[in-house]
Amino acid sequence: MADDSFTITDNRTGESVTVPVVDGTISAAALRELDRGLWFYDPAYLSTANCDSKITEIDGNEGILRYRGYPIEQLAEQSSFLEVAYLLIHGELPTEAEAAEWIHHITFHTYVHEDITRFIKGFRYDAHPMGTLVSTIAALSTFYPEAKDIDDPYTRLVQIIRLMAKMPTMAAFTYRNRMGLPYEYPVNHLTYTGNFLRMMWSVADPDYVPDPTLTRALDVLFILHADHEQNCSTTTMRTVGSSRADPYSAVAAATCGLYGPLHGGANEQVIRMLHEIGSFDNVAAYVERAKSGDVLLQGFGHRVYKNYDPRAKIIKETADAVFKVTGLNPLLDIAMKLEEVALSDSYFKDRRLYPNVDFYSGLIYEAMGFPLDMFTVLFAIGRTPGWLAHWVEMLGDPEQKIYRPRQKYTGPDQRDYVPIENR
Ligand code: ACO
Repeated sequence: MADDSFTITDNRTGESVTVPVVDGTISAAALRELDRGLWFYDPAYLSTANCDSKITEIDGNEGILRYRGYPIEQLAEQSSFLEVAYLLIHGELPTEAEAAEWIHHITFHTYVHEDITRFIKGFRYDAHPMGTLVSTIAALSTFYPEAKDIDDPYTRLVQIIRLMAKMPTMAAFTYRNRMGLPYEYPVNHLTYTGNFLRMMWSVADPDYVPDPTLTRALDVLFILHADHEQNCSTTTMRTVGSSRADPYSAVAAATCGLYGPLHGGANEQVIRMLHEIGSFDNVAAYVERAKSGDVLLQGFGHRVYKNYDPRAKIIKETADAVFKVTGLNPLLDIAMKLEEVALSDSYFKDRRLYPNVDFYSGLIYEAMGFPLDMFTVLFAIGRTPGWLAHWVEMLGDPEQKIYRPRQKYTGPDQRDYVPIENR
């Protein structure tokens, strides 16, 4: 039987150390036994597992995604975003009583302090909503200074509820500010997602009721975005949280990580790309440009998935339901043609580049009327429970300390300061 262990020999000294391979990892503690001054050089953490986690399992080769063991397909079909948030944060699906209490707390803490509304109004009309959102989340820490007491489980839970509850309100207000529209305050008897849609779209209509199909579709999209283990924004959440910063500061930082076009910002870039391609006939030429490295095929490729992203499959099905209400997004044909051409091309096949979650989500958002620069804001609402679940898990993990990687210093050796007039 194969020995499930790994031996490292230090050829400088002839010393060896053998370590077990557990869950596909070997412990770096073994290397420390050989030489405490030696570091793994692993740019972008391509081969580094930074923590144990019980939250989300991904098998990138098989295209599998599970939250706390539950397949994403089952959760998307049968659960709701708030129930999934509970599952991620607390580890188990709630009982009826637990669900009722959780939903009540979250839907009754949706208001933000009036100074927060004034703070948002301070941004220019053309401020990108993600910039406004990041700053507003960070500002919340000044409203709740007790949040610094991260060791108290009750205080922690209160901030989790506040963050979950206020994200949609802040998100909708960034949009209203951009449009010069008065803010539509939360209506707490609506569902989490229904309330958000109302805050987005209702204008001078106290009886506004969001379309149930679109509400359900957005709830499913939030479920699909709720967690994805150690991605860039979650790693940022853990990194900032590891310095024992309050959760508002850590979520603001995570939201910054999400903002980038290689991460959550890709959903916006996909639509820009599809507009640029413009017609069916230009697809092949655009794919050639991607192959030559001139452009990226936005919404394609993933660090972990080397197979079809299971979320992209569900989103495609959700799109059908949405388009029945909104009418077809004319970009859909271009997107489908792009997928077909790319998936039959050896460049993409050899590199195992498949559509990821962002490829089709933007088409739904656009059909629902969201402007492009709100797409990543929607992603941030969905990802908030994942960030919080990882924050709680990290704080409770006795092996975790402040995140502090090392470097290979490659700069100049010591040199003497030269006064400015002599340079
Ligand atoms: N279009 C064209 N070529 C690509 C693409 C793409 N979208 N993605 C990767 N490649 C190529 C790379 O050029 C590289 O080619 P090479 O081996 O000839 O040098 C090869 O495929 C491997 O790609 P890497 O960049 O090494 O893969 P990495 O794991 O570092 O990057 C990433 C993953 C960032 C997602 C990348 O695929 C990408 O930029 N995709 C487009 C942006 C995007 O959709 N991001 C959303 C990701 S999902 C999310 O964050 C929610």
